[in-house]
Amino acid sequence: MNKKYLQELVIQNETPLLVIDHAQIRRNYQEFRERLPRVQVYYAVKANPVPEIVRTLFEEGSSFDVASRSEFEVVFDTVRNLPPLELEKFIWDKLIYANPVKKPDSLHLLHAYKPLLTYDSEEEMGKILKHCPEAGLLLRVKVSDEGSMVKLSNKFGIEPEKASELIKKTIDAGLNVEGISFHVGSQCTDPSKFVKALESVAGIFQEADSKGYDIGESITRGYRVKIVDLGGGFPVRYNGQEQSFKGLSKVLMKELDRLFPEDKTAILAEPGRFMVANTGTAVSKVILAKHSTNPPAYHLDDGVYHTFSAMIYDHVPLNLEAFKEGEKAECQVFGPTCDGLDCLSENEYIPNSSKIFLPRLEEGDFVYAENMGAYSSASSTNFNGMPSAKILHVNVKKK
Ligand SMILES: Cc1ncc(COP(=O)(O)O)c(C=O)c1O
Repeated sequence: MNKKYLQELVIQNETPLLVIDHAQIRRNYQEFRERLPRVQVYYAVKANPVPEIVRTLFEEGSSFDVASRSEFEVVFDTVRNLPPLELEKFIWDKLIYANPVKKPDSLHLLHAYKPLLTYDSEEEMGKILKHCPEAGLLLRVKVSDEGSMVKLSNKFGIEPEKASELIKKTIDAGLNVEGISFHVGSQCTDPSKFVKALESVAGIFQEADSKGYDIGESITRGYRVKIVDLGGGFPVRYNGQEQSFKGLSKVLMKELDRLFPEDKTAILAEPGRFMVANTGTAVSKVILAKHSTNPPAYHLDDGVYHTFSAMIYDHVPLNLEAFKEGEKAECQVFGPTCDGLDCLSENEYIPNSSKIFLPRLEEGDFVYAENMGAYSSASSTNFNGMPSAKILHVNVKKK
């Protein structure tokens, strides 16, 4: 985001701030659609669940992936004024509850819409049978997430070799299995992980077909196709060195065409990070500059319990810059709470933290970090009674 523009925003607004650029959200959505035209986008609301972002993506034509009742409610509030039949159709067709472990109350709430759900165990299947038996089910399979910035396969996914057995049990129980989902881990910079995952899904479809298990043959959704859900993992360029989305999308298009005929398969994906990471710039103020220490220490009004919680939960690399010009020198940078963990510069508790170099700063100066739109404010706390950064939305389309 333009530095001068950011400085103007800081004059008009109290820090800490997270500035979200909606023009960039729209560009990200369009890029995804253009590069992967076969793929229906279900924005993973967890990456940044603020209603303004959901609205912008809704206006672009996005579908949504929710992981909880409250994420569902954010999407529901966005579409609640649609005519009743359209609203029902939207939730049925454009929403996926992609948390393989769901609370019964959420299943009850969604039951009437015959929603798309993921699951990865016989136990969850039983829960769905009890509380939401007309849902369309996607079986989440375990795939390699090695090398990805955030791992998920330690927790989710059935082993591919056990998949067809569970598919049979699910169909025998009277439920509709509509396809397979996977997640290669978030910020996956290795396209071969997607390729291997797709091959694994194609193998499961083949096995199920050969045994006569009807995946996607249910007519409840009005179409007779198998669904492949690519999950998330689409990479963002945090330091410019990473594999680009452009390169990945070329590989994906080729593999999708090779493995999944268009007339027999519907492809969907749940990008979170890709849609919002590069739309967010965190701006904070130096509330104390200690030059009596070596190196100097700067205490900010935002930290790892707040927007920079991304460093802990998301393992995101931090690129902190100052508005001020000047020769850069190593410094320590701290957040505002009373915990020693609240340290943004290199420290033993946050493995991906690194040395920070900034010009000499004084109390009242501002610093900023780009690429902070995903998994940042979403995991911010109110620790020490300090509220999360104010989210400022810019370039929102006027009605
Ligand atoms: C089921 C599911 N889908 C989608 C996502 C979004 O992933 P990403 O932000 O890498 O696109 C996640 C992230 O944890 C997830 O758990």
